[in-house]
Amino acid sequence: MKYKRSLALFSLALLAGTSAALADPAYIGAAKCKMCHKVQFTSWESLTHAKAFERLKPEEQSKAECLECHATGSSAELPGVQCEACHGAGSDYKSLKVMKERDASLAAGLLIPDQKTCEGCHVGAPHEQPAFDFESARAGGIHEFKNPR
Ligand code: HEC
Ligand code: HEC
Ligand code: HEC
Ligand code: HEC
Repeated sequence: MKYKRSLALFSLALLAGTSAALADPAYIGAAKCKMCHKVQFTSWESLTHAKAFERLKPEEQSKAECLECHATGSSAELPGVQCEACHGAGSDYKSLKVMKERDASLAAGLLIPDQKTCEGCHVGAPHEQPAFDFESARAGGIHEFKNPR
């Protein structure tokens, strides 16, 4: 009896594990990244990406065609260009165990952003945009780096 019950619980846990692995990772919000990445968070917060949602007029703040680039995951509940807009949704890589291992983090959805990531928003807006220069934008527009490459 006892054995059966623990077997049932074990199968349940397995099932839950499987479906979590198959589901798309979810956004967790920048405040969760702050716990471990204070340097990057503090500088990001002072820069323009963090304020991208506030640039929208109230009537624009529910428009999908604006949220796509002025919010994270196209959601007004994740205002601005947060960490995960560039680094990928964090639910599967956020644990210390995964984060400590670069390969495991990448397998769990962590993205190392490059010029293409930026151009997803810096090219093709439904309004005028200055020409995008990756190197100069990268130098001042992202956040401080703790381990610059
Ligand atoms: C529990 C602590 C913890 C949390 C929460 C966390 N990280 Fe990390 N992260 C680490 C550690 C530890 C490393 C590896 C050492 C380092 O680069 O600081 C790391 C590394 C990274 C790297 C560098 C990867 C590389 O090798 O270039 C990025 C990017 C990153 N994290 C982004 C995030 C983002 C975005 C979030 C929130 C969605 C987040 N992390 C949440 C602990 C954490
Ligand atoms: C494809 C991505 C994208 C979409 C979609 C988008 N924007 Fe933008 N928006 C940007 C970027 C990137 C900037 C920053 C300017 C730059 O460097 O290109 C910006 C800047 C702005 C600014 C600030 C301009 C300034 O002078 O500082 C406003 C206001 C704005 N957008 C409003 C909107 C509205 C309203 C919508 C929806 C109709 C929208 N955006 C849709 C990417 C986008
Ligand atoms: C999810 C969409 C998105 C992504 C991805 C993105 N940006 Fe932006 N970026 C914006 C928006 C929107 C603004 C305008 C914010 C505002 O005016 O408040 C902006 C503004 C900026 C600015 C300030 C420009 C100005 O005219 O004031 C710089 C610099 C910048 N981004 C660099 C980058 C770099 C470098 C990358 C890639 C590593 C990147 N961005 C990726 C949406 C994005
Ligand atoms: C506009 C895009 C963008 C946003 C938003 C962004 N990052 Fe990054 N991040 C980058 C780029 C680009 C790199 C450098 C990648 C490379 O070439 O190694 C990077 C590198 C990192 C690294 C590794 C280098 C280091 O500093 O040690 C960490 C950790 C990191 N980001 C965390 C964060 C966190 C936490 C947030 C939110 C508070 C965030 N990032 C927001 C683009 C972004």
